Amino acid sequence: MSAEPSSRQIRIFDTTLRDGEQSPGASMNLNEKLEVAQALADLGVDIIEAGFPIASPGDFEAVKQIAQTVRGVTVCGLARCNDKDIDRAWEALKHAPQSRIHVFLATSAIHREFKLRMTPDEIVQRAVAGVERAASYCDDVEFSPEDACRTEHDFLCRVVEAAIEAGATTVNIPDTVGYATPGEVSDRIRMLRDRVPNIDKAVISTHCHDDLGMAVANSLAAVEAGAGQIECTINGIGERAGNAALEEVVMAMRTRSDYFHLTTGIDTKRLVPTSRLVSTTTGIAVQRNKAIVGRNAFAHESGIHQDGMLKERSTYEIMSPEDVGFAKTDLVLGKHSGRAALADRARELGFQLTGEQLQSVFAEFKQLADKKKEIYDGDIVALIGQEISDA
Ligand code: KIV
Ligand code: ZN
Repeated sequence: MSAEPSSRQIRIFDTTLRDGEQSPGASMNLNEKLEVAQALADLGVDIIEAGFPIASPGDFEAVKQIAQTVRGVTVCGLARCNDKDIDRAWEALKHAPQSRIHVFLATSAIHREFKLRMTPDEIVQRAVAGVERAASYCDDVEFSPEDACRTEHDFLCRVVEAAIEAGATTVNIPDTVGYATPGEVSDRIRMLRDRVPNIDKAVISTHCHDDLGMAVANSLAAVEAGAGQIECTINGIGERAGNAALEEVVMAMRTRSDYFHLTTGIDTKRLVPTSRLVSTTTGIAVQRNKAIVGRNAFAHESGIHQDGMLKERSTYEIMSPEDVGFAKTDLVLGKHSGRAALADRARELGFQLTGEQLQSVFAEFKQLADKKKEIYDGDIVALIGQEISDA
């Protein structure tokens, strides 16, 4: 008999308060950031990227207060590879019991030539100097070669090796513009593991944007190929089309543990409450059909599906709503619903209908459902009340 492969635990690096806040219209004030940071710690994320301290006095203050008050999690601040940014990041982070400085520098030819106007040698020198300065403050240093997924393989290997040599304990491989495909992401992670001699001294991280709708698939491809950390945000908020959605990567690894053999420290029952908090705080609504946390994620309207669900939930449900923090499955009554769901709802509302009564209420219900987008419990009670009084 072959033994079950053992599971590897993936670190969840939440960047809702940094990359997520870079979503147009998502900015949060100090108290809101503190509340979200506490919720993320309660959710069980491993690292909270609390902000970009050099970006504004407000960002500095938020990172500082989160570092001073939120416990049980590593608090991280972002910095470019220059002394001023790194010193400011440390100033904000220094009171946290566990802190991380995250330094980044673009490495792709497009960014080198058009944005930074720097040669490859200058990039390597700047990256090494940035990592060394961060490491002089803190023993947990992450380095990100921005636009890594569009960087030439040879040059990416050179920068990553130099950053690890300089003291980076995590190397993040961002798909900054959401351009990569899952196959390319896994090839790139495998290539780094094969070619960078000191790669085992650092944790490889993935940070995917969703411009082509592949951020979650790409993040999962990265961890399948050996990455040990996923950078993600609640509800997938972030620059442009957003980042990989935390709730989706976590539930994919959990629901398909038979395939991935990966775990996380996330308390999944807190996913929906955390999603709601982030949505109300940022004002960015969660689409109804959003995987895991959308209002329709566990709602079934068609009669065939409802009948299956009433007989055995696993017919149409691959996760239970309770596991992500919803109260229960929602059998929505609408024009596609069948008798079984109506009878079930009537019972829940306290009515035991005879076959004849159910038949007549069902006919009325179908007529109403053709006129209304959604049928509420009040509508059902009214239809049953009318049927009983007519009898
Ligand atoms: O998308 C990106 O490249 C980033 C870096 C700062 C990691 O957000
Ligand atoms: Zn990003």
